[in-house]
Amino acid sequence: MITKLEIDGFKTFENFKIELSPFVVIAGANGSGKSNFFDAIVLLSRLAQTDIKTAFQEQRGSKSELFTQYPDGNSAQSMRFEVELLVDKQVSDNWGNTKTLDYTKFKYCLEISRINKNGLEELYITYEELTPIIPNSSIVFIKTLSKLDNSEIYLYPENLDINQAVKHRADKAKQTVLSSVNNTTFPHVLAVREEMRHWKCLQLNPLTLRQTSAIQMNELIGMDGSNLPTTLALRAADDPFFMTDLSREVNNLLPNIVSVSIEKDKHLDQYVLVSTSPNGSKFSSQVLSEGSLRIIALCAFKLDPLHKGVLCLEEPENGIHPFKLEQMIQLLSDLATDFQEEAEIPLRQLIVNTHSPVLIADLFKHSDIDCQVFYAMLFSRIRKKQSLKLTQMVPVTNQDNDISEAVRKVTLSEVKRYLEI
Ligand SMILES: Nc1ncnc2c1ncn2[C@@H]1O[C@H](COP(=O)(O)OP(=O)(O)OP(=O)(O)O)[C@@H](O)[C@H]1O
Ligand SMILES: [Mg+2]
Repeated sequence: MITKLEIDGFKTFENFKIELSPFVVIAGANGSGKSNFFDAIVLLSRLAQTDIKTAFQEQRGSKSELFTQYPDGNSAQSMRFEVELLVDKQVSDNWGNTKTLDYTKFKYCLEISRINKNGLEELYITYEELTPIIPNSSIVFIKTLSKLDNSEIYLYPENLDINQAVKHRADKAKQTVLSSVNNTTFPHVLAVREEMRHWKCLQLNPLTLRQTSAIQMNELIGMDGSNLPTTLALRAADDPFFMTDLSREVNNLLPNIVSVSIEKDKHLDQYVLVSTSPNGSKFSSQVLSEGSLRIIALCAFKLDPLHKGVLCLEEPENGIHPFKLEQMIQLLSDLATDFQEEAEIPLRQLIVNTHSPVLIADLFKHSDIDCQVFYAMLFSRIRKKQSLKLTQMVPVTNQDNDISEAVRKVTLSEVKRYLEI
């Protein structure tokens, strides 16, 4: 779970800082940097799993377009991320080893720079650091030491003995040191990597959601909605009440679906999602509406015990009748960990972006829902006499005359007015 994120030199972010709770909604006009914010989270996640080249290639835009572009045609030399995060108390690796952690709050810093060598521009890690957040402590698990000719990145063992630290040359590193750890020999570093591996952006594709899925597919629902029938079949095999609970959730938002089930197509070796309407007619996912499929997928994420980490979701209002938005908000809030309740495991965070003034107004009606609302907007910073457009996210308050804090805020009515226009 991300509690704080600082971004500099990535797309529309310069000296950008934000503190986040488990459930966050970001409203804002077109082009204000909402999706760029998701891109930053996904890029960080991918950098914790794969090499720099692959992580950058998967992003929207070429690698040079990801560094902040200045009006004079130049772009930032480096991008820097500083993230504070919470991890689950226990971590497991792929070899069945599990460890309980001493620390669960961390700060991870990463700087990636464009460096020109022999006329060829390459991306390098120029800084990487991982520390637990503990007052008056000097414990560090990953650290970069700058040398005159080259920097070195150290991975420290749990006993913090510098003589046992694994040393990497920064100018040779094709991936982060964090991404190199895959077992419980370094349990804290692995826990951070595991948490970041589960930061994802959900982009449900109706065509994909309509498809059947192979019986032998993997455990999780894809970010495009793929593999939903197989995931549901696997959960139903583990928990006999899973499909009943799912049907109840779905029916709450979609009264014309009384139950959802999974059928096996033995000839094709596929699972098929089937819905039943109040008069008993059955419809497969291939004929279900786009909005219904999105709701079924979100309900599945809510109930899936294997779903964890940060889920970024674009415009949940799409395909939903405005009258149903209030129930949708409840579903969204249930997708995030509630710290008021008994400690929930695993940690889940939901970050949503929206264009909907109705969704924002409905959110404020629910005083029981703990949600942070931000308004994303561009502001101009003058650089070399030219104007650079940068993203700012300002907390939204319900009180029209809230001037109690020094932090700049916008009011609910201002945001609604803007989005309605
Ligand atoms: N490298 C960059 N440097 C500076 N600005 C950039 C860079 N890359 C993208 N942008 C700006 O970011 C804008 C896109 O922002 P983004 O996709 O986050 O908008 P959004 O808030 O999600 O909008 P929508 O609501 O339409 O989806 C582009 O229009 C461009 O102006
Ligand atoms: Mg967008």
